[in-house]
Amino acid sequence: MTRLTQRLQVYRCEICGHVIEVLTVGRGTLVCCGVPMKPQMERGDGQGADRHLPVIERTEEGVKVVIGQIAHPMEERHFIHWIEVRQGDTLVRRTFRPGGRPEAEFQGMGEDAKVRVYCTLHGLWTNRREEILPVTESS
Ligand SMILES: [Fe+2]
Repeated sequence: MTRLTQRLQVYRCEICGHVIEVLTVGRGTLVCCGVPMKPQMERGDGQGADRHLPVIERTEEGVKVVIGQIAHPMEERHFIHWIEVRQGDTLVRRTFRPGGRPEAEFQGMGEDAKVRVYCTLHGLWTNRREEILPVTESS
């Protein structure tokens, strides 16, 4: 069985917590701890959106991204791990640690950039959910 990935898709191992992002699509199945890794769906609304969705403000040199209308926890086992901003062929990521403040300015980016946020407990969130192509399987 072959499970096709998509470029920039994020996968997580449900056993050890390993998180990866696909840079180049291949044919194989991504496996960790002996089991297929789970693709992380990009969420744009629903429960928890008020704590996870990126809020984007224009600045003089780019955009500032702040997470949530309500402050998100930055605890040891539950925190915003990274914010990724992508516009055209440029992708910039800022990572955070527990105790940090999940906000950052991204120079040269515009308000129409796609922003993704990864929470260690609640997964992947975005300001612009794109059509997710169905995972294709063949034997
Ligand atoms: Fe969270």
